[in-house]
Amino acid sequence: MKEIGVGILGFGTVGAGVVEGLIKNSRLIAERIGVKPVLRKVADIDLKTDRGIRINKSILTSDAESLINDPSIDIVVELIGGTKIARKFILQALSRGKPVVTANKALLAEHGAEIFAAAAANNTEVCFEASVGGGIPIVRALRAGLVANHIDSMYGILNGTCNAILTRMDEDGMSFDDALRQAQAAGYAEADPGLDIDGIDTAHKAALLASLAYGFHVPMKQIRIEGIRGIAQTDIENARSLGYRVKLLAVIKNHPTGIEIRVHPTLIPISHMLGSVNGVFNAIMVEGDVVGQTVYYGRGAGRYPTASAVISDIADLAGKLAAGGTDNRPPALAWQKKPCKFMETGQANVRYYLRISIPDKAGTLAKVATILGRHHLSIASVIQQEKHAVCGKHVTVIIVTHEGHEANFQAALHDVNKMGIVGHKTVSMRIEDLGVARS
Ligand code: HSE
Repeated sequence: MKEIGVGILGFGTVGAGVVEGLIKNSRLIAERIGVKPVLRKVADIDLKTDRGIRINKSILTSDAESLINDPSIDIVVELIGGTKIARKFILQALSRGKPVVTANKALLAEHGAEIFAAAAANNTEVCFEASVGGGIPIVRALRAGLVANHIDSMYGILNGTCNAILTRMDEDGMSFDDALRQAQAAGYAEADPGLDIDGIDTAHKAALLASLAYGFHVPMKQIRIEGIRGIAQTDIENARSLGYRVKLLAVIKNHPTGIEIRVHPTLIPISHMLGSVNGVFNAIMVEGDVVGQTVYYGRGAGRYPTASAVISDIADLAGKLAAGGTDNRPPALAWQKKPCKFMETGQANVRYYLRISIPDKAGTLAKVATILGRHHLSIASVIQQEKHAVCGKHVTVIIVTHEGHEANFQAALHDVNKMGIVGHKTVSMRIEDLGVARS
């Protein structure tokens, strides 16, 4: 059977998982694709740490460039991470006409234009199934399974660390800080926890999803990003009593006025499939004009799910190389020639959850309602629980609005906070009903 040589740059958590998976299932893969991917070299600066797997030591090297230049290596797999050395090595491999597999969503989101142009110029390609949704084959779903569709919308829970934190807060009443420590100990988090909890990792993945769906590079500055840092237990409880769960959600919608991409903590219905995506699991709901709604679910982070996706790209490329080269498809992320139109900031239509602290006395609630009304925002529900025997002290009021213009909402929020009577800065979160009818 024909052999295709594979070299891996980076022998960390995912690298070790790929080595293990390739060794364990190489026969199965060869039987399935009719060609045998053979691991020829693994490069890492740390060759001492025991990864707990049996590997022929002679294939280990600390010289990444010798791996890239090795003529017996046909496919270069980049699992170093970060946006500096990884970029250099990927560009080197592409300049030698070698296809690249990577899990590096940050690199592709920030330097995708350069990397995909280099791949096209050298008549080769970059595969990145593992960069979004861990083990979920969402890249293939968008490129192949849904090729017949215009993509109307996508909603994604894309960061395992954030989802694990929010799940612990919801199910065990844990504080944000304790839940973060627990998620980090589980080993899913990025080296810089800010990438996870400030929503950057989710935004990188959202940029890739939108690029796949619409064929444009999506500059990070086009994405509205809010993370989950400091989310309060009380808001998770309030959401639950309203029939919602709080999730860090990537929202991608195709409007006639442009593409809208947002990442933020969001109230989604408990009764929707995405509302039961818990722990490190990820899920993506994609709505196409021919197929309707589809949902993809699985482990979004960790050694083995990511390795599964990386190996699927290796197998795909091995099959193509054995058949004489890559196919004729345009690059995954940049097949559109015209510039992309993005929706202007503040133009989205959204519902909001608000937690306001106001003095419990005559007329204050009316003042808040007046401000919302002045900005054309209609109130859908109000909850205030009686707390004090005498009026005058601050109480918490939960308001849920109907859909309104985001810009109007921001203006209203500004006015509410500057009334001079609110006890703390008003907490707000967007609501996405995901097609679930409200009763
Ligand atoms: N830090 C990421 C997560 C890893 O928690 O989902 C996978 O991209």
